[in-house]
Amino acid sequence: MNKTLEKTRAFEKEMIQAYDPARRPAFHLTGLTGWINDPNGLSVYADRAHLFYQANPYGRQPGQICWGHAATEDFVNWTYLPCALAPSEGYDRDGCFSGSALTLPDGRHLLMYTGFRENDGGEGYRQVQCIAAGDGCNYVKYEKNPVLSSQDLPEGGSEADFRDPKIWEEDGKYKALVANRAADGTGAILVYESADGFSWHFSGTLLANNGRYGSMWECPDLFPLDGTDILLFSVQMSTGADPAFHPGLGTVCMYGRYEKENGRFVPEGAQPVDCGIDFYAPQTLLLPDGRRIMIAWMQNWETSQFCREDLAFNGQMTIPREISFRNGLLLQNPVRELESLREEHTAYEGITVDGCSKLPGIGGRSVDLSVTVRPDGSEEGTKRFFIDLAAGKNVQTTLEFDPVLSQLTIDRTRSGYPHDIVNMRSIPVRLIDGALDLRILLDRYSLEVFVNGGEQAASFVLYSPEDAEEIRFRSIGRTVIDAGQYTLKGTVPEYRSEI
Ligand code: FRU
Repeated sequence: MNKTLEKTRAFEKEMIQAYDPARRPAFHLTGLTGWINDPNGLSVYADRAHLFYQANPYGRQPGQICWGHAATEDFVNWTYLPCALAPSEGYDRDGCFSGSALTLPDGRHLLMYTGFRENDGGEGYRQVQCIAAGDGCNYVKYEKNPVLSSQDLPEGGSEADFRDPKIWEEDGKYKALVANRAADGTGAILVYESADGFSWHFSGTLLANNGRYGSMWECPDLFPLDGTDILLFSVQMSTGADPAFHPGLGTVCMYGRYEKENGRFVPEGAQPVDCGIDFYAPQTLLLPDGRRIMIAWMQNWETSQFCREDLAFNGQMTIPREISFRNGLLLQNPVRELESLREEHTAYEGITVDGCSKLPGIGGRSVDLSVTVRPDGSEEGTKRFFIDLAAGKNVQTTLEFDPVLSQLTIDRTRSGYPHDIVNMRSIPVRLIDGALDLRILLDRYSLEVFVNGGEQAASFVLYSPEDAEEIRFRSIGRTVIDAGQYTLKGTVPEYRSEI
């Protein structure tokens, strides 16, 4: 085992004693300690799902990025495994960046990742693609790494921005998508092929950005879903792009046709995957039971430097989401196994809110809350409707529904973050049979909102004090609601040094 990996694993082990479940999300995965960003290598191997992630265990900000590792049988209870990859060779000296995984015919778990290297003494950096193979716990870097580097780029392709390989098996061969900055400065998603998973060659361009949907596309994922093909990628969106997308870092779901024969993707439409602030670099996984699960980094690069100094982690994953595609929409809902964490149930039907109402039994910071809002269109009816979450003295996170604009605004300005960063998102929502259906997952340090059965989702990190746990309903004018809540019990990941 190389020295950096050995040292990182020893450090992780030391940190287990310091792991305090009370100062962690109750049911969202963080790193064992320190910083995390993108999910990596999400795959089923040896009867479990494995999730690696970009990690710097030594601090709450990125550093020498390695691959942290966790595994699960139900997407709710996690086991930490020892760090899988750490920078050790010339080609990945300054970071083992994002990538993906699959199982080889000989039973080995293959990881494909980006090796990152700063230029010696000069400006800029280099990115190359690398392979490691292992047994679900210990991985050996391939002796012929890197397997893809500058000579494998199309004309004008940047050797600095060349990253995030997504590997899959197709008709007896392996294919990989790799994000690249093209000669015109915008992004392109390249396709590479391999017969054995180790030796790779360039085969074409899946799709070029051509200035649409932001600049450099990162972290591509391509898969069939309910009769269409989906291409996900993450990107810095510029102001004035498609108005469905907020400026800043976000994730795009393009749907259309993947033409296998010529290795092209023909887009038919695009939509934001998540309309909140904290959702980036998702990966998906097809389970043996046919469900496709999506997990993203619940953070974003623009605000990730702000964290709570009293907490040992910075960065968490979203709740794993089951995704499907219906009537031109990507639907996403919390993984059904979350139900196993349900404890107390409180439900109300046909409650009229006019002013401010607190409903006994509705509150807390680890809850699964469903609210059906029926705006009243009469003279005395709804002018504005609000739900205050994680509310306490001078703090609250507010969902506000405006019936005139048919818009939902989620505001975390008073939720523990500095005030001069992005804290608010507004999204157009529709009423179905006169009602807006909201499912709200609130954990100690996050909020995820699923609208109308998952046709929109919005994720936010919250750093409100842990004792801010009131939930209030407010209405200007009369609004009728149903509200049902389950409190969710926390899960505590265990650590195993072997699988
Ligand atoms: C996305 C990303 C990837 C890169 C990784 C580095 O968040 O920028 O493109 O591989 O993070 O940690």
